[in-house]
Amino acid sequence: MNSEARSNSISALDNVEAIRMIDRGNMEWMISSFPSLLKEAVTLSRGLALPEDYRNIKEIIVCGMGGSAIGGDLFKDLSQSILPLCISVVRDYDLPKYVGESSLVVAVSYSGNTEETLESFKQAYKRGSRIVAIASNGLLEKACSKLKIPFLGVPSGYTPRSALPLLFIPLLKIAEEIGFPLVGEGELVEAQRLVEAYNLSLTPENPLSRNPAKQLAARLHEKLPIIYSMGHLKSVALRYKDQINENAKMRAMCDQLPEANHNEVEAWEKIDFKELLHVVFIDSRFKNPYLAESVNQLVSTIEKEGVGLSIVKPLGETMLEEMLSAIILGDWVSYYLAILRGVDPAPVRLISELKRKHDERIRYSEKFEEWLYKSGEGNKV
Ligand code: PA5
Repeated sequence: MNSEARSNSISALDNVEAIRMIDRGNMEWMISSFPSLLKEAVTLSRGLALPEDYRNIKEIIVCGMGGSAIGGDLFKDLSQSILPLCISVVRDYDLPKYVGESSLVVAVSYSGNTEETLESFKQAYKRGSRIVAIASNGLLEKACSKLKIPFLGVPSGYTPRSALPLLFIPLLKIAEEIGFPLVGEGELVEAQRLVEAYNLSLTPENPLSRNPAKQLAARLHEKLPIIYSMGHLKSVALRYKDQINENAKMRAMCDQLPEANHNEVEAWEKIDFKELLHVVFIDSRFKNPYLAESVNQLVSTIEKEGVGLSIVKPLGETMLEEMLSAIILGDWVSYYLAILRGVDPAPVRLISELKRKHDERIRYSEKFEEWLYKSGEGNKV
């Protein structure tokens, strides 16, 4: 595309009517709901009471896939410098061997029907782990009701990825409930207010000239985004990648610092398709001072090579605020990239088709129901 055609297509980001014609699944509403979902998640989580013996655990394992797993990563990233507790995220069928009676397993599946998450849930039940599940519906809800396992039901009607606040905030609340407070209620309220105000500057009504999400999307249009982040924002880079993949149906890469300085950095030595790359650094005011120095070095290497570069400076005074403000920005960026590509952001046709065909062949949900039928309190078949 020549530069005139490119700037014409980018100016389409200010045509709100045209945006809504492309966004048939109403992802605009879902992303705009992020701030109110944060509030709703706090209220919902207050209703979750856990048995006293959930306090005696040695580690927390969050099980989930895709849009339901990323909340676990954010929880883990945020807790690293605060909680004296091991937290891991399992995106797989099988739980690691160490998971047992002294583990708290949190099974998260927005639909409540994801095979891998159901299988991990089943394994956790058999091993006698303490379990909590979060879902909007599905077999996970059914299993918790039958097996008398604490369950947090969240509202349906969103895509799993846009339900992130409903799947992430309860993890903070669960940790608090079992004696590991991470973020105070006041801090949560402040973060929610910040995101609410910031969101207004990112919506389609706000023009390109004043809209940081449209501006970043314009820079990433027809490029391969390479997203770096660090510290408590490590998984935010993954969130950017996943949102770009699912909303814009576009390829993206992500990496974390300082690890990238030990492998990926070599790819800046001899760069193929330089003009097609655009690097996004998600910076943090909380980064380790040693890391700050190596970030500067990497930035100058990339700049010297003439590769497109954008630095995101998340808003906020706390780690949580940085995390949430960076996420809402990235969610809108992925939305505008979808619009620029003329693709409806909400549907994920290939993911749904893969799941449907797989279940036709494997019939996992039937098998899970059979297991559930035979299981009951004290009967760990
Ligand atoms: O964003 C998506 O639609 C996917 O990544 C899903 O979250 C993933 O397939 C798991 O499904 P669920 O969130 O319903 O457990």
